[in-house]
Amino acid sequence: MKVDHNRYIINEKVTEYVDGFYRPPDQDIASLRTEAEQCGIPVILRDTERFLVTLIRMLRPARILEIGTAIGYSSICFAGASDPSVKIVTMERDPELALQAERNIEKLGYQEQITVLKGDAEILLTELDGVFDLVFIDAAKSHYLRYWERAIPHCRPGSVIVCDNVLLRGSVTDEGYDSSPRRHHTSIKRMRVFLEKITSDPAVETSVMTVGDGISLSYVREC
Ligand SMILES: C[S@@+](CC[C@H](N)C(=O)[O-])C[C@H]1O[C@@H](n2cnc3c(N)ncnc32)[C@H](O)[C@@H]1O
Repeated sequence: MKVDHNRYIINEKVTEYVDGFYRPPDQDIASLRTEAEQCGIPVILRDTERFLVTLIRMLRPARILEIGTAIGYSSICFAGASDPSVKIVTMERDPELALQAERNIEKLGYQEQITVLKGDAEILLTELDGVFDLVFIDAAKSHYLRYWERAIPHCRPGSVIVCDNVLLRGSVTDEGYDSSPRRHHTSIKRMRVFLEKITSDPAVETSVMTVGDGISLSYVREC
């Protein structure tokens, strides 16, 4: 198993130990992860995948919205953990990646369940119809607040929103924390503002967790 330690915020020993529990749900998903890692396409980390799959099994959402598809890896994991009646809408602005995602989704037989919307999620979200039980935000890190504000109208009291990479390899705590090339100061500043907003907003109950690269888990109380 190839683990990219630069993408984690917890020390190597703990990360390796926790990832030791990871079992790919099937060979197709294992191959897709390998392909993504070989091509340098960032997909959800192993422990983040386990967290989301467990959450989906617990919540049994009927409709899932994802912002940031890449090659369709996470949406395929979500479909694999759901009943065939569950609908997933995922948004991707890179046309080549969106096409690759559609090919992967079709190859694995999830085309009836997963719809890839092509374009900028900030626009797509304003044109979208319907309410979602689970929203997963995993696109441009400096625009989380904008996705959030546009996703909230598609939630109901009881919807759950998960955002990935909210700790930006630890750089939100202290810019010196991240040993990889410096993150753009604006992203860090905006992520701090975003976390402040979602942890202080009385309309949601939010927990910030050190899973993967940091995730936030929010329960929508009112919208
Ligand atoms: C981290 S990747 C998503 C990975 C995917 N969720 C997975 O785990 O398999 C982030 C993706 O968001 C896309 N993206 C960034 N900004 C976007 C936007 N405004 N609208 C739609 N997609 C966007 C990028 O092109 C990229 O493919």
